[in-house]
Amino acid sequence: MTLQTHKLHIPDYEQVIEVIDENVGLHAFIAIHSTSLGPSLGGIRIYPYPNKEEALQDVLRLSKAMSYKSALAETGLGGGKSVIMADPRTQKTESLLLSFAAAVDQLNGVYIAAEDVGTCAEDMIILRKRTPYVVALPTSTSSGDPAPFTAFGVFKGIQAVAQQIWGSTSLKSKKIALQGLGHVGAKLADLLFWEGAELILADIDSNLVETACRKYGARSVLPAHILETPCDIFSPCAMGGILSEETIPLLRCMAVAGSANNQLAKRTDGKLLLQRSILHAPGYVINAGGIINVSCEFDPSGYNPATARDKIAKIYDRLLLLFEQAAKEGKAPSQVADEAGEWKLLHGIGKRLAPIHFT
Ligand code: NAI
Repeated sequence: MTLQTHKLHIPDYEQVIEVIDENVGLHAFIAIHSTSLGPSLGGIRIYPYPNKEEALQDVLRLSKAMSYKSALAETGLGGGKSVIMADPRTQKTESLLLSFAAAVDQLNGVYIAAEDVGTCAEDMIILRKRTPYVVALPTSTSSGDPAPFTAFGVFKGIQAVAQQIWGSTSLKSKKIALQGLGHVGAKLADLLFWEGAELILADIDSNLVETACRKYGARSVLPAHILETPCDIFSPCAMGGILSEETIPLLRCMAVAGSANNQLAKRTDGKLLLQRSILHAPGYVINAGGIINVSCEFDPSGYNPATARDKIAKIYDRLLLLFEQAAKEGKAPSQVADEAGEWKLLHGIGKRLAPIHFT
């Protein structure tokens, strides 16, 4: 047995586990922030972190955000996440995934894995060979790639932003600067295009930008300039931590609404957006489409994409209520969302009643 797991004691987290299997080049962390509303569920991120401290910080932040995301979306799930320190393009092997799956299996369903940046639905099929605690497989009974559902939720969230600012959900001729044309960003660009939005696109992969610009008659900007591009809505759909003391003063938009997880470098940075009168749709509220979709796998009658779509559409109402409450209390929407999430976790509001059966 070459798989080694060590428990790390991190305050405010139920379990944090370091996973090492030198034989297959596996070094990973699994963080379970909270199971107070149900078993924790969150994606596996494979990313070439420069060191283990950064990987650990990332998994802690991401798993906590999953707790809040699921609490607000009322999925009956807790918050967990995992990160594998590797380059997904060159180091993601079947033996690495299987070894990681063995570590997931040891947790007996307290952590349920799915895809995230660096993993895909096909990888979940490999994990499933070693553990039942995996969802979002590309099979007839599972929910498949969550990205289209996440993109639809972000689209509904952008409509809520438009309603809040301009009094109409119409995005016709609205300038939307989109950062990241990956699984979510590409699908969001499509939805926005057909709604009449004027797209400004950036990605570090210039091929993706070129293809999308041709497809949508869009304008491109260099990735380094997307934040300061004049637009109506800035939509971050790449990596987290992009809204900070340094970057918020550069923004030239009326709202920020995108899929990226952990957009604020610090929780308090939401206030800086409020001070600049920039409306922010908190990441874990607007990007909950993926988790809502996956949670529908646990419906007693089985997974139905139409049920998932209808639940995800409610992100529109959830955000409008949040904006209204934030305006009334003079707080940043991110602060109001954090407070609502904490309240639900503390009081078990939305707790799953029936256990999930894995086969
Ligand atoms: P992805 O890995 O498919 O796409 C990310 C894209 O961003 C890539 O095309 C990459 O080249 C680009 N990118 C990276 N750094 C960039 C930079 N500095 N400037 C411009 N482009 C850059 O990831 P995916 O699945 O589309 O997710 C995007 C974000 O949404 C991530 O933060 C993820 O955690 C979050 N998210 C994704 C969900 C999903 O269902 N896939 C669910 C909830 C959140």
